Amino acid sequence: MFRIILVILAAACLALPQAEKDLYAAEPCSDEKCLPPDCRCSSTNIPNGLEPAQVPQFVHLTFDDAVQELNYQVYASLFYNRTNPDGCPITVTFFVSHDYTDYSRVHDLYLNYHEIALHSITDEPATDYWRDITIDQLKQEFGDEKTIVSTFANIPPEAIKGMRIPFLQLSGNNTYQLGKDIGLEWDSSWPTQTFRNPGLWPYTLDYKSTQDCLLGFCPEDSIPGFWVAPVIDWTDQQNILCSMVDACVNIPDDVDGLVQWYIDNFNVEYNGNRAPIGFYVHQAYFNANPIHLEAYTKFVDYLQGLDDVYLVSPSQSIDWIKNPTPLSAGVRAECPQIEDLGCNKQTCQFTKGNETRYMTICGDCPDVYPWLGNPLGEAEV
Ligand SMILES: *[C@@H]1O[C@H](CO)[C@@H](O)[C@H](O)[C@H]1NC(C)=O
Ligand SMILES: *[C@@H]1O[C@H](CO)[C@@H](O)[C@H](O)[C@H]1NC(C)=O
Ligand SMILES: *[C@@H]1O[C@H](CO)[C@@H](O)[C@H](O)[C@H]1NC(C)=O
Ligand SMILES: [Zn+2]
Repeated sequence: MFRIILVILAAACLALPQAEKDLYAAEPCSDEKCLPPDCRCSSTNIPNGLEPAQVPQFVHLTFDDAVQELNYQVYASLFYNRTNPDGCPITVTFFVSHDYTDYSRVHDLYLNYHEIALHSITDEPATDYWRDITIDQLKQEFGDEKTIVSTFANIPPEAIKGMRIPFLQLSGNNTYQLGKDIGLEWDSSWPTQTFRNPGLWPYTLDYKSTQDCLLGFCPEDSIPGFWVAPVIDWTDQQNILCSMVDACVNIPDDVDGLVQWYIDNFNVEYNGNRAPIGFYVHQAYFNANPIHLEAYTKFVDYLQGLDDVYLVSPSQSIDWIKNPTPLSAGVRAECPQIEDLGCNKQTCQFTKGNETRYMTICGDCPDVYPWLGNPLGEAEV
């Protein structure tokens, strides 16, 4: 009898329309209800109550937008063959948008232990589009991009875990519901100005977030087990806050000044509660001014000189938060693993509207240019 009722209940749940599934307003969080490893309240508390000196300082180096041959060469010379203090390779996160991306190079980045995350198909410049977007549109922008990346870069779909919305423009519940629906673990689009010092650690959306909502439409639904990796703002030299480093305005115009400014922002967390700190830029950052690459390289070298600083992806920070071991016990039991599925590189030519598009991929060329609603580029029937 009991079993029959369960079956009927399960069937009734399955029959509900997608949008009503699992939705309820998030309740206030408490450490009694929200238990590790899969739940964490939004908080500046260090996981496991560790002392800052026993906490690895995680740094998320990230790049948004297309991966192309030219920027790939810069990434490779900057980031390949570097290791963290535990001997594991460093990991940089690439939030990939579709147009002009060379997916064979995405494959190469993955193969060299970097993390591939999603940044939409269109990278549409109108912020209203992202604010007002529906779940179905988001599913095309991010779900289809996940299919495109895993297929044409030939990497396991489960290796794709994170997302960043263009312009960090959240759409409230939809952003996070979508992330969970397409099998991601985290989003890193939500800026905080209030929780810089002490800094906000990554947390889950099981319960109500206490994070400041800057760009409108933050989530109110409970999205169990889905992580927010907060974008902790930097400040420029006139104390104006900026979320993406390439959006900071009043900054030094010489290499050494720039390096010192990076270090000053890094030190807010490093000398504080060691919440993971990001260095978030678009791929165009190094083209905007030649001193950026020189300063960035010096900054990465500086970080690599510190034996408690780890250059990792948000996925790896979250793994540590789920199992927070003190530095003295070793940061992780084993290095992150990757699965090499190979790459049979080809350059394909398409017509997109009145333009000719080239797309370099692993595997066979699709019939038409992959796009929203047709990620595999199948011929129309
Ligand atoms: C988000 O979810 C909450 C709780 O379910 C609901 O009250 C709110 O109206 C939703 N917001 C939007 C914009 O849909
Ligand atoms: C990284 O090391 C490998 C093996 O030693 C070498 O083949 C490769 O050229 C190096 N890559 C860079 C960018 O230095
Ligand atoms: C291609 O089409 C776009 C709009 O679809 C138009 O703005 C542009 O001028 C066209 N370019 C050429 C070379 O015809
Ligand atoms: Zn972008």
